[in-house]
Order: sequence, then structure tokens, then C-alpha cells
Amino acid sequence: MKTDKKFKRYTVTSALPYANGPVHIGHLAGVYIPADIYSRYLRSKGEDVLFVGGSDEHGVPITIKAKQEGVTPQQIVDKYHNIIKKSFTDFGISFDIYSRTSNKIHHETAAEFFKTLYDKGEFIVKTCEQLYDEENNQFLADRYVVGTCPHCNNEKAYGDQCEKCGTSLNATDLINPKSVLSGKIPVMKETKHWYLPLDKYEPWLKKWILEDHKEWKPNVYGQCKSWLDQGLHPRAVTRDLDWGVKVPLEEAKGKVLYVWFDAPIGYISATKEWAEEKNRQSAVGNSQLSTPNSQLPTTNSELQTPNFSWELYWKDEDTKLVHFIGKDNIVFHCIVFPAMLHAEGSYILPDNVPANEFLNLEGDKISTSRNWAVWLHEYLQEFPNKQDVLRYTLCASAPETKDNDFTWKDFQLKNNSELVAILGNFVNRTMVLTHKYYQGKVPALSILTELDNEVLKKIKAFPNRIAENLENYKFREALSEVMNLARLGNKYLADCEPWKIFDSDPEKVKTILNISLQICANLTIVMEPFLPFSAEKLLQILSINKLNWENAGKTDILKANHQLGKTVLLFDKIEDEAIQLQLKKLSDTKIINEENNKQFVSAKADISYEDFAKLDIRTGIIITAEKVAKTQKLLKLTIDTGLDKRTVVSGIAEYYEPENIIGQKVTILINLQPKTIKGIPSQGMILMAENAKGELCFVQQEKNFESGSLVK
Ligand code: 2FM
Ligand code: ZN
Repeated sequence: MKTDKKFKRYTVTSALPYANGPVHIGHLAGVYIPADIYSRYLRSKGEDVLFVGGSDEHGVPITIKAKQEGVTPQQIVDKYHNIIKKSFTDFGISFDIYSRTSNKIHHETAAEFFKTLYDKGEFIVKTCEQLYDEENNQFLADRYVVGTCPHCNNEKAYGDQCEKCGTSLNATDLINPKSVLSGKIPVMKETKHWYLPLDKYEPWLKKWILEDHKEWKPNVYGQCKSWLDQGLHPRAVTRDLDWGVKVPLEEAKGKVLYVWFDAPIGYISATKEWAEEKNRQSAVGNSQLSTPNSQLPTTNSELQTPNFSWELYWKDEDTKLVHFIGKDNIVFHCIVFPAMLHAEGSYILPDNVPANEFLNLEGDKISTSRNWAVWLHEYLQEFPNKQDVLRYTLCASAPETKDNDFTWKDFQLKNNSELVAILGNFVNRTMVLTHKYYQGKVPALSILTELDNEVLKKIKAFPNRIAENLENYKFREALSEVMNLARLGNKYLADCEPWKIFDSDPEKVKTILNISLQICANLTIVMEPFLPFSAEKLLQILSINKLNWENAGKTDILKANHQLGKTVLLFDKIEDEAIQLQLKKLSDTKIINEENNKQFVSAKADISYEDFAKLDIRTGIIITAEKVAKTQKLLKLTIDTGLDKRTVVSGIAEYYEPENIIGQKVTILINLQPKTIKGIPSQGMILMAENAKGELCFVQQEKNFESGSLVK
């Protein structure tokens, strides 16, 4: 229930991204920027806040990727965990801990959590028939199966979800299921699993969400209501897999916890890891991890060492727990995880789950498999040091209430017309004038006009408006208020025109610049949660130390005569060429995707048998091969076609070394009109298979037929 309760501390979590790929702008806009803004704001207010993140390293997609790449799942998650972690650090996402679910402490914590529920008799055990791949001797859960969605007929639905209609599925719901591993039709086989009886918790959930949390965002409340109205069913929390947290029961050998059971427990294990590390560091008197502002460690009197407690952040009623997530995670954070916490009994529940909708890119859904994304690590290579421009754009158009679109034109516009023209311009004008008239020293406030008083009053009102929006998870609105403060400054300068009156009324100019500089100082505080890199730059420009939120609204932050620093521009214009480059990159991606689709989705038009019979295709063998000089792709081959020995120029040099293909059996079209290529007469064409990536391979014969055999 929304109350004005004053909490003693905050646990802020952000969804753990799957460690099977890098992170993109959709992740940043939907989850990590709002969570970071919220945490930075709370720290600035002096609150005790622990901001938790980490990589979600279990689940079927990771094992499939590992199989495809011929490496272990651990190698996959090691690679992406590091890439993801670096992207977050680079973008200033200020986690107190960024952990990972393959850590030992997580396996122990998740297994223990399961065991507690098991010992309390909370699970039901069911033996049922599940899909099984006989070729691979493996049960097929979740993404190991594809088939037709029973709701929308999408033929590529996964065993846990249909990505077209968003319905959450069981593998056995799929029509015409196929194993992703072998492509074969699975059989049904008996297996035993442990289920969380969500139906049992339904009445409690209905009251807790629908009655006590009416203040949740409409998109979140609405989705929960729809789940609850449809009625909840028991959910299996174990899987027949060998990658994940082992089920801690003798009778569950070869089974692991379902990834959505262990992942949210990852928030708890990360907190434990943070506390252990803090305690270890304070024991050696070397505190390097960030410490929440006001958690003064309690002292264990016997050991005389500080004691950072993870439990305070998870079990104390005075802690406010907030989960930042995307809309696809709502059911797990609002229904399943709270049910788990409730069943366990000793944990607090989330106070709010301010989930965002999705961010699209240039009108299309962001997609990893179609490479339709702006990857954070690539952005920073192409726009170095422009983290805040992306943070600003993504927050200003965050999908808070509905899906929203990121476009490069809008990115450019927000930079050039807002960051440069409003915020940067105001700071720059104020600094240039102060350096020009007062050698960079803050002039003392002099006589105040009615306009000055009005502006001073307005400055004082900003922080509360911004804070109120932040506390209600309205980050876009909060950011627009930050910009309004800069707008106020710009308008004030434009109304007063100090450059015109310096000679006639120098006292008045002192007042104008003093007030403008106080606005700059206020900006360092209120922009910090949103634009931490630029706030830091502005502190240096003003030559002051970081100020916390309680100073926001004050109009005497900069004292008279304080020497300001050097003026540098906060933001630079982004030129059309840089935007064109990004648009070109996306249009190239589109072309590649369309080509792949054409090839893989639609067949060519029908032809008659007579047309086909015109082709004279034979089996043959390569007897000589050499590179064609001054070309990258061409090889000159001599082929024994059974009928003759002839020269064929073939575009396969990127895939085969000449010395490795002597003796290679091939399939050759021998009645293609001869053609001279790079001065070499070529008679015929070797048939090659081409995959989606454009790679080529020979079309092999299954048996060793003599050269010249007809292919028909
Ligand atoms: O949707 C996802 O990317 C999940 N890996 C989120 C997990 S959030 C939490 F429960 F760990
Ligand atoms: Zn569907």
C-alpha cells in the first residue's frame, strides 16, 4: 500500500541480463538508466541505498549457444559477463555490486532457498510426460523445442514462449514440436518435477497486488490483473538439464533449478557477496567497494570488526525493495518471485516494480538475432565520451507508459537542440560573461529587481518537483524539469541582456551573473543522477566539489569571489555525417536480413521439368587448383568430368586453400555457356551450398560414384 512511510534503507535491483550476448540501448532505456538515476538520486539525498546487478548465467539459450559455438556454457557466460559488465561501467551505471549467477555463493543461496521451501512442504511433486529427444538422450525444456504456437499459429514458437504473441507456453503446448538439437520429432517420456503452487498463493497475491498496490504503474498493475484474472497454475521450478543450480535433493540427480527460479535469488546472493566483500575489506582496513551512504556498520563487540549485513537489505521491514525491469519480466517479479519470498516467510516484498515497456529502433523491434540494435560497446567506439548524450536521449524518450521508438534523427535533435542549445549554451554563456567581466570570479549579489526575486523563487522550487517525479518513477518528467531549470537560466539571460548594460549598470550585471552561476551550481546537483559525466565536468568548470541533494534549491552555493575554473563546452554538436553513417549501418543490416529471409523463407518460382532437364549436371573431381592472380575470391580449377578434363574458374578462394582441395569430389554444371573470367576461359560451374552468412561449401556425394555420373 502506498504510504508516506519513511524507509531506513533501499534495495534497488535491476534485471539480471542473460550472459549470452552484449547489451543494447533497449536494456539501457528500459532498466539500467532508470535504476541508476533512482539510486544516484537516493545517494545524493544521503539515503542508505544498495544498487544490485549481475549477469543471469543459466538457462537453455546459453547451453544452445555453447553447443553452436563448440565451447562450454561457462566459456560463453565468462565472455559475455565481462562485455556486459564493462558496458555498464562505461555508461556510469553505479552498481554497488555487479555479480553473476554462476558464482558459488549464488548456487549455495539458490539451493538453500529451494531446500527451505521443500522442507516447509511448499512444493508439489508431479511425474508427467515431457518431450524427449531420443537421438541426444535429453529432455527438451523451454528453448530446446520449437513448434507452432497454439494461440497465433506462429511456426517458430519456443517451448517456453511465443515471441510473436507473447504467450507464455509449456513445451508440450506446441503443435508439431521439433527438437532444436536434432531437428527430429520428440517422443513423450516420464519425468519428475517440483512445482510452485501459484494457485495456492493466488488469493494472497490478489489482495497484495490488486488491493494493496493500486499505486503501481498502470502497465504493471494491468498485466498482473490479467494474469490473476485468468487464474494461476502450479509452475515447475526444476528442469532436466546439466547447466544450472543443482536441485539439492538425492532424488533429483541430473536436475537443475529452472532459470527463473534461481535468477531473482541472484539479487539476494549478490547482496550477500557485497556484504562479505565489505566485511573482508573492512577487516583489512581497505574499503574499496562503494559503501551505501548511511549504513554505518554495526560493530561486533567480540571481534571488533564492522558487520555489514545482507539481511538488513532483504529482511527488515524498514527497507524499501524496488525492482527495475522490462515488461517481459513483470510476471516473474510481481507474481512468481513474491510468491517465493512469501512462501519462504522471512523476506520483505517489493514495494514497487516500475517496469518499462519496450524501446524499438527506427520503427522495428530490437532483435539480437537480426542484429537490429545499437550495441553499447559499438556506440562508444563511434561516439567516444558521449555516454551522457545517449543517457539523455534514452531517458527523455524512455518507454515509461508505452513502447517508444529510438531514431538517430531524434538522437541528433536532442543533442543539438537540447543538450547543446539549452543546457550547454546556458552554462557557456554564463561562464564566458563571468570570465569577461570579472576574470572568472563570482560577482557578489547586488540590488534585486522583481524579476531577480521571481527567478530566485523559481530556482528554489525545482528540486522538490524533480524529486517528486523521481520518487514516483517518472524519470522523463523529472529530466524535463532539469532542462527547464537550464531554460529558466537562458530566458533570464535573454531577458536581462547583461552584455548590453555592463557599461551603464555594472551592479545589475553582478546580480544577473551571480544568479546565473547559482543556477549552474544547482544544475550540478539535479543533473547528476541523469548525466553524471557532464555533472562532473560542470563541477570542474565551476571549480567546486560535489554537492548533495540538500543543497539543491539554495541560491548562495557559490560564494562571492570564488574563482571559477576554465570554460569548456559541456556538449558538442553532432553533425549529419555521423547520423548518416548510423543510418547506413542499419540499412545495410536490413538488406542483409532481407536477403537472408528471401533465401530461407521464400522459394523461387516454379519451373517445368523440361527447364530442369536442360541442365547437364555431373559428378566430377578436382585435379588441379591454383589462385587466380590479383583476385581475392577466384580459383582456377581443372575438373575431371568423366567426359573430359576442363578448366573452371570458381569463386571459392575465401573458403578453400587450393592445396587442400585436390581430389575433392564435386558436382558440376557442364553445359553452362563458356565464359572468359580474368582472361581464363571457364567451362562450367561447380555447385556450392551457401548458408545465411554467405559461406560456401561443396555439395557432397553420399557414395563414391565415378566422375561423369548424371545428377538428375
Ligand atoms: O529477461 C531477462 O533478461 C532475464 N535474464 C531477467 C532476469 S531478472 C532476475 F530475475 F534475475
Ligand atoms: Zn503465439
